[in-house]
Amino acid sequence: MSVVILDFGSQYTRLIARRIRELHAYSVILPGRATVEQISRHDPQAVILSGGPASVLQPGAPHPDERLFDLNLPILGICYGMQYLVQRFGGRVIPTGTREYGRAVLTRHAGALFAGMDETEPQVWMSHSDAVVELPPEWRVTAETEDNPIAAVESPDGQLFGMQFHPEVVHTPQGKVILENFLRISGVPLDWTPERTLERLIAKVRERTDGGKKRVLLAVSGGVDSSTLALLLTRAGIEHTAVFVDHGLLRLNEREEVEQALLPLGVNLVTVDASERFISALAGITDPEEKRKVIGSEFIGVFREEARKRGPFHLLAQGTLYPDVIESAGSEGSASIKSHHNVGGLPDDIGFDLLEPFRYLFKDEVRRLAALLGLPDELGQRHPFPGPGLAIRIIGEATPERLRILREADALFISALKEWGLYKQTWQALAVLTPVRSVGVVGDERRYGYILALRAVTSVDGMTADWARLPHDFLDFVASRITRRIPEIGRVVYDITSKPPATIEWE
Ligand code: XMP
Repeated sequence: MSVVILDFGSQYTRLIARRIRELHAYSVILPGRATVEQISRHDPQAVILSGGPASVLQPGAPHPDERLFDLNLPILGICYGMQYLVQRFGGRVIPTGTREYGRAVLTRHAGALFAGMDETEPQVWMSHSDAVVELPPEWRVTAETEDNPIAAVESPDGQLFGMQFHPEVVHTPQGKVILENFLRISGVPLDWTPERTLERLIAKVRERTDGGKKRVLLAVSGGVDSSTLALLLTRAGIEHTAVFVDHGLLRLNEREEVEQALLPLGVNLVTVDASERFISALAGITDPEEKRKVIGSEFIGVFREEARKRGPFHLLAQGTLYPDVIESAGSEGSASIKSHHNVGGLPDDIGFDLLEPFRYLFKDEVRRLAALLGLPDELGQRHPFPGPGLAIRIIGEATPERLRILREADALFISALKEWGLYKQTWQALAVLTPVRSVGVVGDERRYGYILALRAVTSVDGMTADWARLPHDFLDFVASRITRRIPEIGRVVYDITSKPPATIEWE
């Protein structure tokens, strides 16, 4: 059973899904125009219509499959979703001429969705340019703000709800109470716990592999997702070959760490040393997208070879996560920012069926599974690391010499973060080697060294990120440690850009 979220293009849709899962109900995001058949496949118990940039007043404005209403499910419309519901049931929406954006206060609230909310005027987050001015027959207003006499509505049968504000964002501090009430009214089971998830996943992978009869090839990157997948398959008793490609773009000691973590846990791990192949394919390449493409195609080449050597295999297992799925499905009109290449990004024409048990999970959910499955903390709590490795952290050509310098700098930065107890507080930290050199002085000597940039961010899922406010004393410590130990680096700078507008990686 699930809560189906129909996405009309709001930047907050993913947050709705997260909030629902944080309340221990399973949620999936489908495109706003999904058919009833597609929706029904997820066994919905309730539906949420997201906000979105369109106006219900525009001709051709997106709307859900009309037959959705025959399912008689509780529906919550947020912002655009509310305006759609109101219009659909005979109320009236008008353009306000301006965009109401920001904090507002509920001066009055009533009804089942608001039960248990603090009585003192709760703060909510608005972001809309159309407004409801007339209710559908017999509907009632359940909340109002100073500027907005119709801020939330409810249908006479208590099954359809709408709100002009966003309960899913942190700026609506009691939004979780509202969503929890909606789940309670809908009777959605609150059993989305790591333990239940694990049970379900084990059952699912056993089913997909015919009880373990089908042979599985698994691409392992050393990251949390694919390592956890290796453990899941092992726990489910499914025979598989986990291939770890050392592309020569790994972090210091990474290969040994991955082997030491996975081998004792019974994972059938094969390490392929393909570093020479990758490094020579990268020679002379400076363009970020071209680097990613070259690395992606080398990965595929190595995998095809291994599959041929060790096969036959029926299934290719990948640690693909929900954000990757949402991203590549792309909401209407979303732009491609970078071509992400990871081992979880092998193309499906590689000749196998895909087994992607985590394709509906967020990273923090996988981390909880990792802990349940006994993945050592060292690996489970590891910062994310991109599939193309250090190559996309070297601006310009990724030569062996630059890789060596960056690998050392990265290790010094990360180990210092751990020593200072700052590693777990940051979502990701990295060093970037720029091709820019600057003048310095060491003793009485002139030094003409590279500029190294350090970057650390806080984030929930990597989709947005804030630069981490690392203590100045720490930054001072790292900068002097790096410039002391790596003579090729003349200067260290700290990146203070958030995402957006920047991305986490530099390339
Ligand atoms: P960006 O740089 O897009 O990164 O803000 C968001 C998160 O994704 C990681 N990343 C990648 N991961 N293959 C991966 O497996 C890739 O090609 C790739 N590019 C970026 C990045 O490290 C961050 O955690």
